[in-house]
Amino acid sequence: MILVTGGAGFIGANFVLDWLAQSDEPVVNLDKLTYAGNLENLASLQGDARHVFVQGDIGDGALVALLLAQHRPRAVVNFAAESHVDRSIHGPEDFIQTNIVGTFRLLEAVRAHWGSLDEAGQAAFRFLHVSTDEVYGSLAPQEPAFTEQHRYEPNSPYSASKAASDHLVRAYHHTYGLPVLTTNCSNNYGPYHFPEKLIPLMIVNALAGKPLPVYGDGMQIRDWLYVKDHASAIRRVLAAGKLGEVYNVGGWNEKPNIEIVKTLCALLDELRPRADGKSYREQITYVKDRPGHDRRYAIDARKLERELGWKPAETFESGIRKTVQWYLANPEWVAHVQSGAYRDWVQKQYS
Ligand code: NAD
Ligand code: DAU
Repeated sequence: MILVTGGAGFIGANFVLDWLAQSDEPVVNLDKLTYAGNLENLASLQGDARHVFVQGDIGDGALVALLLAQHRPRAVVNFAAESHVDRSIHGPEDFIQTNIVGTFRLLEAVRAHWGSLDEAGQAAFRFLHVSTDEVYGSLAPQEPAFTEQHRYEPNSPYSASKAASDHLVRAYHHTYGLPVLTTNCSNNYGPYHFPEKLIPLMIVNALAGKPLPVYGDGMQIRDWLYVKDHASAIRRVLAAGKLGEVYNVGGWNEKPNIEIVKTLCALLDELRPRADGKSYREQITYVKDRPGHDRRYAIDARKLERELGWKPAETFESGIRKTVQWYLANPEWVAHVQSGAYRDWVQKQYS
């Protein structure tokens, strides 16, 4: 079996659902259930003995040690993190605790467990760390996309904390020989995306008749990947990645934010037209920019394609349509995640 951390969040849940749709290898899912963790993402696995959910913190070394000893997973896939840049600007503390200290404690527990395995167990074991393209900083308009050799230049407390975790993972391989793999992925989108992030926020605000808050001039560029393609990349790296190596994951889909928002408006105009016959574009509002806002991210994913034969299955056009359709088909999921805590966040960030 494998141990997944953060498997009740957006990408982790999509990964767990896809994993169990494709194989019968069980998953132990360790998640703290912060505001971003949601067991409704995993509702379809209720009663499925292949999925063991444990509520807990990756920073709880004793708990992680117990889970490793009990279940003896052949791999740990670490998704658990605080993941929202705007929240890291309001309050970096949780990011330091989970992304840096939490990853350190997880690595320590895994190192002790790995050290106790026999030779064959050690050779088969993997620790896969899921990270982000934001560790590379911001690109100028004509600069080539980030390769795995790009220097680390994180600009937000979030990306700095992820960069620190990447360095720890690297050091545990170099110093202790821990069999690690790291993936650095671009912006994901798809089902179960928490509506504090650009794409789901715009969809839920549009449908609620609220403003669509575009930061600054809306010309910041992100490189978008459908979440199930990220899950397939992680499966591929876990199966065939070279120990100690880093793999960039991306969809070759660079788009300015304003284009994303207009695409969403056009899809909603088609699939759920406004009652007054006007376009959702009428709701677009330019607001104050994010402090230290990175201008452009772009991922060069050729290493993963060349060495491991991975390619995304979804185009941006097909993926974004599926995503809008998913939000239209799941109003209860949306209603449930818009709890009091979510309303407090929206008030703090956008008022
Ligand atoms: P998310 O915020 O939706 O989910 C994070 C999950 O981790 C939640 O279920 C939360 O409860 C859990 N968690 C938080 N702190 C924890 C702790 N201390 N112990 C155990 N569980 C904890 O995040 P996401 O968007 O699914 O991102 C998952 C991972 O992928 C993160 O490491 C993130 O840095 C990385 N990543 C995200 C993107 C993206 O576009 N969302 C892109 C590249 C990489
Ligand atoms: O690049 C990978 C990263 O992508 C991940 O590591 C992060 O976990 C993930 O949250 C995401 O970070 P971003 O900051 O790029 O994503 P976010 O959805 O917050 O913002 C995307 C862009 O949209 C960014 O340029 C800011 C802008 N934006 C965002 C929000 C929430 C707006 O213009 N208005 C908004 O209300």
